[in-house]
Amino acid sequence: MSWHRPIYRPLTPPVFRQVIAKSEEAAARGVEVLEISAVPWQLPGANVLRAAQEAATRTRRAPAQGLPELRRAIAERIAKVNGQTVSPDSEILITNGSMHGLWLVMLGLLNEGDEVLMTSPGFIVDSLVRLAGAHPVFASLRESEGWRINIDSLEAQVTERTRILYFCNPDNPTGTVATQEEVLSVLEFCERHDLFCVLDEVFDTQVFDGLTHVSALSFADWKHRVVVVQSFTKSYAMPGWRLGNLVGPSGVVSHLTQLLQWTMLDLPYVTQVAGTEAVTGPQDWVQQLGPDFQRNRDRILRELQTVSGVSYVVPQGGAFFFINVSGLGVTSQTLARDLRDLYGIPVYPGYNYNIRGEYVRLAFGANEANLEALARRLPVALADAARRSAPSAQRMARPSPVR
Ligand SMILES: Cc1ncc(COP(=O)(O)O)c(C=O)c1O
Repeated sequence: MSWHRPIYRPLTPPVFRQVIAKSEEAAARGVEVLEISAVPWQLPGANVLRAAQEAATRTRRAPAQGLPELRRAIAERIAKVNGQTVSPDSEILITNGSMHGLWLVMLGLLNEGDEVLMTSPGFIVDSLVRLAGAHPVFASLRESEGWRINIDSLEAQVTERTRILYFCNPDNPTGTVATQEEVLSVLEFCERHDLFCVLDEVFDTQVFDGLTHVSALSFADWKHRVVVVQSFTKSYAMPGWRLGNLVGPSGVVSHLTQLLQWTMLDLPYVTQVAGTEAVTGPQDWVQQLGPDFQRNRDRILRELQTVSGVSYVVPQGGAFFFINVSGLGVTSQTLARDLRDLYGIPVYPGYNYNIRGEYVRLAFGANEANLEALARRLPVALADAARRSAPSAQRMARPSPVR
């Protein structure tokens, strides 16, 4: 007897779990693996930690839709930042991180056989789509166009079975930040084809070079077809707390609340109290997250500029470089292995983001010690990879030691 539903059988763990497992193996062999990731390395403010501690002394739980005071805090933030009125009672759902929000959206809005349009390269939501019994369809972005959203490419892939467009802004893995014009063109595309527009805005506070993040929540005209997914993981430096939220039409929110209710009953109370404090309390530490990430980006950019054989679009937001390594003469998988095993630098190969070709995603979320070590090792590691892949070097290649 099979213990699997057939649609679940092809699932493998997300690549980041494999990268973590391989990094742990390398560390066990004595490699000094750097702690770098796409999430903030800083702790949330002390007021948030205190609020969690106090909440832990209460034996309470929250309603399925989420703690009312947290939903009110999020609605007030949207009014202030995006200038729009959103009902905390009917248009906001608290989720167990944004991945859970995306899963509820796919499970709740898709029928078997539906299609979800997304970009390539793009974040790993295609697995959620498959889990829901639907099909991901990819619209290609081009490095030569700065990985900007391309409406013609979306138009070429849309069919009568398309139900959702998933759009990530700022984008993981390319780091592009959509302009107001681009966000509007995406919304208009969804209106034209009667699609739900699922906007993944989890990197909204990590935007660089004085750019402003344009949220789909800023436009009232498309409210009926827009679901925005947000996260405390990045925006409030709370990855392990597992807290996120989505904002959408009241019918969608009440439907997804039932799905949440019948799978999890409700979400952790302590985490939601801490999240409420994060949104309503002092914002100085929150406002520092973006500049801290930009400083790290600039530090790594300076090193990358010294390396030949790689190309990349300078990220405008997010927490990573998406690097074309084809000029090094090595596959992205081999490079990922060597960077990790020889230099302790964990990167994700590009195939994780549904793109062919030799790309790796290098995250730059790191404290100063790890960042400096990364800055030191990276140019040496990439030059070494190029040298070892050169035909004459292959016979005598000896791995260089980790510094
Ligand atoms: C674009 C994007 N969306 C969603 C998520 C899920 O994050 P979380 O569930 O921690 O909110 C991630 C995590 O890396 C991400 O990069």
